[in-house]
Formats: sequence, C-alpha cells, structure tokens
Amino acid sequence: MDLFEKLLSDSGPLGQHKFIDNNFYMFPKLEGEIAPRMVFKGSEVLTWSLNNYIGLANHPDVRKADAESAAEWGLAYPMGARMMTGNTVQHEEFERQLADFVMKEDAMLLNYGYQGIMSIIDALVDRRDLIVYDAESHACIIDGVRMHMGKRLVFPHNDISNLEKQLIRAERLTKESGGGILVITEGVFGMSGNMGNLKEIVALKEKYNFKLLVDDAHGFGTMGETGAGAGEEQGVQDGIDLYFSTFAKAMAGIGAFIAGGKEVIDHLRYNTRSQIFAKSLPMPFVIGGMKRLELLKSQPELRENLWKIVRRIQSGLRDKGFNLGTTKSPVTPVILSGDPIEACNLVVDLRNNFNIFCSVVVYPVVPKDVIMLRIIPTAAHTTDDVDETIAAFEAVKVKLLDGTYKRAGWENVKKVVSM
Ligand SMILES: Cc1ncc(COP(=O)(O)O)c(C=O)c1O
Repeated sequence: MDLFEKLLSDSGPLGQHKFIDNNFYMFPKLEGEIAPRMVFKGSEVLTWSLNNYIGLANHPDVRKADAESAAEWGLAYPMGARMMTGNTVQHEEFERQLADFVMKEDAMLLNYGYQGIMSIIDALVDRRDLIVYDAESHACIIDGVRMHMGKRLVFPHNDISNLEKQLIRAERLTKESGGGILVITEGVFGMSGNMGNLKEIVALKEKYNFKLLVDDAHGFGTMGETGAGAGEEQGVQDGIDLYFSTFAKAMAGIGAFIAGGKEVIDHLRYNTRSQIFAKSLPMPFVIGGMKRLELLKSQPELRENLWKIVRRIQSGLRDKGFNLGTTKSPVTPVILSGDPIEACNLVVDLRNNFNIFCSVVVYPVVPKDVIMLRIIPTAAHTTDDVDETIAAFEAVKVKLLDGTYKRAGWENVKKVVSM
C-alpha cells in the first residue's frame, strides 16, 4: 500500500477535526500583544489559554532584555552544540542561577522542553533499568519512556498504593537484570491541575531504592514560597533527584533545564543526545531567560497577583456550582457534561458572542460525555476579567442544560465557524 494513501485514510485523533479547517478550533490565531485581551478573527477576546502565568511575556523589562540582547548578539551566536563550539560564560551563569533557585547543586540548559526531557530519560536508563511512571504524564514523558529499551511499569494517576506495588515488582525485576529504577511524575499536571503526590512518593524512598525525576513545567514559578515549584510547595524539594522545567510557561520564553546533583548533571552533559548533537540555545534566550528569572525572584508580587486571580476565579466558579475537579494549582479545569457537538456549539457561543477565548478539551482526551473547558489564570488578568468570565460561564451553562447547544438549527457549528 502507498504510505501516504494509508496515512491519509486515517487522520488521527486530532486530525479528524480538521474538517473545521478555518482556524477556529485548530490552529486559531490570537493576534496583538500577549495580554488578557487579544484579537481573534477580528474581534477582541478575553484570553484564558496562555501559560503566561506570572505575566512575564510582555513585561517591559523582559521585552527590553530580549530586544537588546537580540540587537547585541543576533540569533546565531553561539554556533554549534554546547560540547563543541556552542558554550558561553552566559550559558554557564544561567545554569548556576537556575540550580541555585531550585536548590540543586547543578543544572543543564535544554533547547526545548519536549525533546529535552525525552533525551534526559534516554540518557538516564539502559536496557537493564526500569521506569515507573504516572499514567497521566505529559506526551513528552510518554515519548521518552517509549524510547526506553528496558521494562516500564505505569501506575494509575497519583495512586500511591499502586505505585508501591509497581516498586515491589520493579525491585524484583531489577534484581534479576542488575539495573536501577527511575520514577517519573509531574509537579503539576497540566490538564487537571492536580499536583503530583511528591511527598508520598519521596516517602517511599525510605523503603525502595529509586531515583525520582519530576517534570514541573506548570509548577515552576507558580508554586512554593519562592516559586521554586511543587517540590518546594510540598516541602520535599530535596527528595527530587532530578527537577525539570520548561521556560515555555511561567518564564514566557523557550528552552528548558534539568537540575540535580553535580555528578548526575555532569553525566547528563556528556550523554544527552538531543543536546550533544544539536545547536546550543541562542544568546537572546539565555540573556532573556536570566532577566525572567531575576524578575521571578525579585518580584514576588507577580506570583501573588497570579494567586489573587486564581483564588477569585476558582472560588467564584465553585460558588456558582461549577465542578473544577481536584485542582491544587492555577490550572483551572471546568468540567461539564455534554457531547462533542454541544462542546463545539458552546465554544462557538463563548468565543463569538461572549468574547471569551479558552481551550476546550473533548473526547478522546476526556470521556465522550465530558466537556472540559480549561482556564489558565495569569497575573496579568484583572478581577473584572474574572467577573466577566464567571458571568459568561453561568450563561453558557444555562444554555447547555436547557439543550440549546443540542438543538438542530441552532447555529450550525460548521456554518458558524466558517464565518
Ligand atoms: C508537562 C510538560 N512538560 C514538557 C513540556 C514541553 O516543553 P516545551 O514547550 O519547552 O517543549 C510541556 C509543554 O510545553 C509540558 O506541559
């Protein structure tokens, strides 16, 4: 069979939605400066879908540092991989600052979070080793685990007694293979907003011999007293052997880092293939990254503002009877019941008539009868933004419950989105 013909006969779980190909649900274009109010299809919308948690994306000091460093260095310098010709004093300085901030001995910059963590997992284990990971881990962890040539065991999301069962199996299996055990979870899960049960996982280290890798993409900069993340929040930062975060969220940039003990980070410097065989981060990302970290540390009011908005929107929605699941973080899922067509109609209504732009998660990511709207509050939002959004959510919930979004003849999804 022709390869492309086969591919095109099944567009995949997300590609199946491409019949609505006008950039409404898929590949929408938000225009204007990154802010709570942006332009979507020519109209101003209140955006709740950007991970600009502490509002750094458009912070004047950040914009200035980005612009000045781009003017001074361009986007090429340094050329080559870190190990060959791509290292600089500034890259090393940024690593020291990151390590210091997350209370680890050392850190290594990664060009992107996704390929970075895949490659970190690859560099940590060989076929004798065993990986135990949370079932709701981000795609980049799953892909990293897929590359592993040895055994892997999964535990149901945050189920610590099941994790313990897997560790008992893992110890038996690694005794035979002569390998070690790597446990992987997240600090904050980006869909549910749940924190990984880091405290309980770290406590298991008393009984079992494993190393813990935590992806804290959504916790870095948002959780903990200083913003050092979910480990700090739960008082177990020391028990995390390898702490990972991307710069794509609270840092409003690009790139990522892994932090841990000096020896293991040094080992990773020489063995992480996606870094050894790829160009180093351009200087503006490093200089701009240091500016972001400086603001994150020196302006705790940014995080306080974030949490003011988080508390107001989460308690406001709960007071109005909305189900926000079990979130313990700024990530705010709003869980409703309805089929995918109702979900489409509801989102069209929210975007076109209430000017609210948030992400919607439908089957197969959530069960068939669940509509999950996902709100990401940021420090840049105002309490008026929150109140407007809660009022809009109440209005669409009434329509969802009275069947408005089901009724044939109510603005047909395809027609509305092709306007
Ligand atoms: C939990 C988690 N890990 C890793 C990544 C990937 O990071 P990056 O965007 O830097 O590739 C993401 C998404 O950005 C994420 O949500």
